[in-house]
This record gives sequence, structure tokens and C-alpha cells, in this order.
Amino acid sequence: MTIVQHWSIDGVPADAQAAEFEIQSDADVVKVRQAARQLAQKAALSIVDQTKIVTAVSELARNTLIHGGGGTAQVEIVKNEKRVGVRAVFMDEGPGIADTTRALSGGFSTGGGLGLGLSGSRRLVDAFDLDTAPGRGTRVTVTKWAR
Ligand SMILES: Nc1ncnc2c1ncn2[C@@H]1O[C@H](COP(=O)(O)OP(=O)(O)OP(=O)(O)O)[C@@H](O)[C@H]1O
Ligand SMILES: [Mg+2]
Repeated sequence: MTIVQHWSIDGVPADAQAAEFEIQSDADVVKVRQAARQLAQKAALSIVDQTKIVTAVSELARNTLIHGGGGTAQVEIVKNEKRVGVRAVFMDEGPGIADTTRALSGGFSTGGGLGLGLSGSRRLVDAFDLDTAPGRGTRVTVTKWAR
């Protein structure tokens, strides 16, 4: 794992509101997952909502690694006038997704998987944005708000 900023190897420092990782290995996926859990706890999401965002983060980090050929993840606590939440952004410069409707429909995989990661992640979060094009890489942004 490469520590880009804000990070200690044991997790999120007590005062951290954000963390950024390179995703180049399974171990990095685990680190991103742990960061999402810690920041979701800090944002006071319910246990159920913590699990939802952590599951989505885990699937998206795995996609960045497997399909995107590696990339970057940012996880942060976000606030607006009403609510506190957790946002995660995944970026890679891989092949991109040619047919996003198909990729999001569920059951479509170019990698021999079940094809449920992307569609499942979308259902688990409050906001989901997929920005991708063939040859331009992929950027997925998800947000889960505390209720
Ligand atoms: N970051 C990415 N870069 C390029 N293609 C992607 C990326 N993320 C998803 N895809 C494409 O979208 C398809 C669907 O993704 P999804 O996560 O739903 O399924 P999967 O990863 O193939 O299988 P599963 O997640 O169920 O193990 C992938 O098979 C791949 O073709
Ligand atoms: Mg997947």
C-alpha cells in the first residue's frame, strides 16, 4: 500500500476526516474498506448504513483493481446544512465502460464475475455517479448519509 495522505498504517487517525489510497493490490482494497468503516462510524451512520457503504466501497475498490487495472480511492466525511455522511470516489485510467446501462443492469460481467458489484453498490448508497468512457477510464462517486 502507498500512503498518500492522512494515513497511518493502523487506520484513520483520530482527527482525520478524509483519506486517500492507491489501489494496486488486495491489501489496498482491505485498507480502503477499513477506512470507510472508520469514517462511517465517525459520521455516526447506523450499523446497517455503515455496512451498506462499506460493502459498496469494497465492491467498487475491487472493480478499480480488477477491471480498471488499479487506481485511486478517496474516502471522506461530508456535511451539508442538514446531514453528515460519507463519500467515496474511485478513479482509474483503465479501459472504461462502453455500455454503462448494461454494466449497471446486474448480471453482466466482462471478468467472469457475477456482475453484481456495480448494480448492488448503487442500491446500497444514497447517491451514485458513474463517469466513464472507453479509453478514458472510470470514476465512480458514492455517498451515504446518516439518517
Ligand atoms: N473500474 C472499471 N473499469 C472498467 N470496467 C469496469 C469497471 N467497473 C466495472 N466495470 C465493468 O462493469 C462490469 C460489471 O461490474 P460489476 O462489479 O457489477 O461486476 P463484476 O466485477 O464483473 O463481478 P462481481 O462484482 O459481481 O464480482 C464489469 O464486468 C466490467 O466490465
Ligand atoms: Mg465487481
